[in-house]
Amino acid sequence: MEPSREHPHVPGPSLWPVGFAVGVVALLVGLVVNWAIVVAGAVIAACFGFLWVRDLAREHGLTEAPAVEPEQRDGHGPAKHGAPSPTYGRAAFLELSTLGLGGVIGGLITLPSLGFMTLPAFLKQKSGARDLGPVSEFPEGEFVVATFMARPEEGEVSRRTAFVRNNGTVDGKPSFTIISNHCAHLGCPVQPNTAVPAKHTVFKDVTLIALPTPPSGFSCPCHGGAYDIEGNRIAGPPVRALDRYAFSIRNGHLHLEAPFSVSHVDGSGSTARIHKYTFAFPGEHIDGPEAWLYPLQPPH
Ligand code: FES
Repeated sequence: MEPSREHPHVPGPSLWPVGFAVGVVALLVGLVVNWAIVVAGAVIAACFGFLWVRDLAREHGLTEAPAVEPEQRDGHGPAKHGAPSPTYGRAAFLELSTLGLGGVIGGLITLPSLGFMTLPAFLKQKSGARDLGPVSEFPEGEFVVATFMARPEEGEVSRRTAFVRNNGTVDGKPSFTIISNHCAHLGCPVQPNTAVPAKHTVFKDVTLIALPTPPSGFSCPCHGGAYDIEGNRIAGPPVRALDRYAFSIRNGHLHLEAPFSVSHVDGSGSTARIHKYTFAFPGEHIDGPEAWLYPLQPPH
């Protein structure tokens, strides 16, 4: 009778599968919460997975030489001892090859599916800088409402609005405050608290409307969100300040760069201290413990 039938294989108790599962769970949770947790989960899963596979291999005798060395007899002398040659049971071979083949097939099916589902959100999402026109169109100390196409190839559907104020210069460098009109509650368009004149200037696909009197702040028509002149939330349901845009000056033109989110702003104008964060969707906390409840953001 074969030894494997006398003593059927029963895997011994092991903590490695539990650790592997904890690592996979941490990796998946990290995909929602934080890249650091993704890395920690991957390391935990890899370490425990390695230990698990090593134990499985030992149980099936794949990593150790057999205890009894084979003998060779030629019929004329004492037994000759040859080099140890490991032997593997057919059941062990079938079990491990089935597991390995199943893992490879599972990976071939799931990895491309996961890639097609998640990668498009992270690729080719960055739009280029937008030329808002000559700096001379932005008088110092005044707010100008600028509407522009964030992605000209998509047309009017990508039109956005920003409130632009020329703060003059700081240490010889130009300073602009560029506030997004997307409410930090649910994204409704906020309005400046002042009359908006009909007169406007058109530069390519950009429309510039100079406000004759500085607004006292910004307000949202949807749920009563209110912001001060720097975009700080002062009333209503928004969870943070209004988002802003980075900027650059090229060939005398003001260019709009990537947007970013702001928790709050201390001070005002060119001396303001802006507490900036990675761009987040409306309604999401970006600082404090609540920020951990919101998922990772693809680039915008
Ligand atoms: S969307 Fe602005 S207050 Fe709700």
